[in-house]
Amino acid sequence: MNRYIFKILRFNPEKDKKARFAEYQVPLREGSTVLDGLFYIHKQVDPSLSFRFSCRGSVCGSCAMNINDSHRLACETQVKNLGSSIKIMPLRHLPVIKDLVVDMERFWQSYESIKPYLVSNSVNDKENIVSPAERKRLDGLIECILCGLCFGSCPVTALNENYLGPHALLKHTRFTEDLRDEYKGRLKTGVKKEGVWGCRNVFNCQEVCPKNLSPARAIIKTKLKVTRKKF
Ligand code: FES
Repeated sequence: MNRYIFKILRFNPEKDKKARFAEYQVPLREGSTVLDGLFYIHKQVDPSLSFRFSCRGSVCGSCAMNINDSHRLACETQVKNLGSSIKIMPLRHLPVIKDLVVDMERFWQSYESIKPYLVSNSVNDKENIVSPAERKRLDGLIECILCGLCFGSCPVTALNENYLGPHALLKHTRFTEDLRDEYKGRLKTGVKKEGVWGCRNVFNCQEVCPKNLSPARAIIKTKLKVTRKKF
């Protein structure tokens, strides 16, 4: 067992005027993750600590948070790579509900605004088959788990509350690239000042994505598509 100090930014809106760091001594085995440490605190020290999780396997995206000043999934971040003192804060740019739980409303609203689903105008109910090459166009665009790490690490989402965010714009490119989509207003949902033209090519989104996706490159792809009028 190794001992770690977890410094967690705590905030309870019912009791606290402002957030404060609380420190916990956490004994953890080799191979343990930050999420294991949070479970230990919750079960053994302070059951009032609030955080989100579900799958514990880097699939659901619920455990996104700021760990040692970078945005990561708690369930896939091993403590042995973080040093003996681990600073944990909620995802940035979203209001804190309690401790490490943030209000994702803005995140989901911008996602919904790009209409993240295929639209078909045909009246028949035949299967719409795509070739392997057509399907390949979507590689790197469909694997997003909507964890919000890109949103929390993007400086534009911090400065402009109307900016759609890298998660929504990655998905926007996913649908503009899908040859089955027949939504006439598709490009307009993301090609606007608060959409792809808001991106400043910082590439933080690419740095933090747990699925090695690049929303920034997807946004550039859409910008090029529009400027070259190849659509
Ligand atoms: S708990 Fe599901 S991604 Fe971490």
